[in-house]
Amino acid sequence: MKPVYVLNGPNLNLLGLREPAIYGTATLADVEALCKSHAEALGLGLVFRQSNSEGELVGWIHEAREKASGIAINAGAYTHTSVALHDALKAADLPAVEVHLSNVHKREAFRHTSLIAPAVTGVICGFGPQSYVLALSALHSFITANKKG
Ligand code: DQA
Repeated sequence: MKPVYVLNGPNLNLLGLREPAIYGTATLADVEALCKSHAEALGLGLVFRQSNSEGELVGWIHEAREKASGIAINAGAYTHTSVALHDALKAADLPAVEVHLSNVHKREAFRHTSLIAPAVTGVICGFGPQSYVLALSALHSFITANKKG
């Protein structure tokens, strides 16, 4: 099976330092380690990346279209603004999960709208780093059941 791509958007490189009351104290490296061990337990290959650039994220989704069996994406603030990420996810036509550490629906109104949600299979938010673990499990079950990717 092709690997799963876990893509992280803007400001997630500051995880652990940034607004710890909301996002917790785990760093992105901690989240990556958690994802690696869970992916290994599931027998999934993993590609884990972060970028502050919308264009780079679009490029990685295009790459995933050929090279991945699924995508988990925490698009950060681009979740709420990016038609380009929506279109790239549609074009990728892969099982995909929108992931958030925080429960965006408990927060400011501008975080209640996701432009990428209509382009993914499902959404997981509010469980901190465990949101990523849940996303990998969901992708694994979905890919296995649907034999897509
Ligand atoms: C986030 C939620 C977004 O609204 C915010 O812009 C982020 C992080 C989360 O993981 O909770 O950067 O995606």
